[in-house]
Amino acid sequence: MKTILIIGAMEEEITPFVSGGGFEKRDVVPFPYYAKNDGETQLIITVSKVGKVAMASCVQHFITLIESSPEFSEHSIDLVINMGVAGAISSKLDQGDIVVGDRLCQHDMDVAGLGYELGLNPDYESVYFETKASVVDMVKNAYDSLDTDYTLMVGTIASGDQFISSKEKKEFIESNFDALACEMEGASLAQVCSDNSVPFLVIRAISDKADGEAPLSYNDFKEKAIVNLTELVKKVI
Ligand code: ADE
Repeated sequence: MKTILIIGAMEEEITPFVSGGGFEKRDVVPFPYYAKNDGETQLIITVSKVGKVAMASCVQHFITLIESSPEFSEHSIDLVINMGVAGAISSKLDQGDIVVGDRLCQHDMDVAGLGYELGLNPDYESVYFETKASVVDMVKNAYDSLDTDYTLMVGTIASGDQFISSKEKKEFIESNFDALACEMEGASLAQVCSDNSVPFLVIRAISDKADGEAPLSYNDFKEKAIVNLTELVKKVI
């Protein structure tokens, strides 16, 4: 039996997944969740709320709960997936394309005043949290098996507690972190999963280009972007 935890920062990011049916909703605080167990896979789906603090708290809560509560039949977690939308930093990405983070970083972590590399949390050895290569390969294989009209790119995803909608911020993230895309939670999920030695996957659909048009295109496109992503994540599982 596999155990997979899926987390979206917003309800809209997981709604197309759970509307597929077969889930039981558990209305518990602080994180209500959906659960499904078909005998092969134990699936738990939840919403963290927006931002790195919310995501860190949610991931740690579920890792501890799943590993210790009799409510779950399997206590070891095979994969934690963060799915949702992102802004494109790379000019090669268009709305609807999908980005897989092979490494995650926090573009707003800055202890440079004490001599540390930009983006480095001094309690860690690297700016980047790396995704297992076998997890990235699983997504590539799933993508290859689908008939799609969007591009899949693998590379760095940069997270921060900021909605990026200016040329200056976008250039800052590109030049300092060589990131393909930006969002607000993935790196905190990667950090907490790494602390717990749990494999993770951050996979995001591009909703906007993180520029002056981003607020408008984000609202227009976010639900559409999630539809392709949901199909791909289902294939991965
Ligand atoms: N999520 C989707 N678009 C984003 C953007 N432009 N900045 C941060 N997070 C996002």
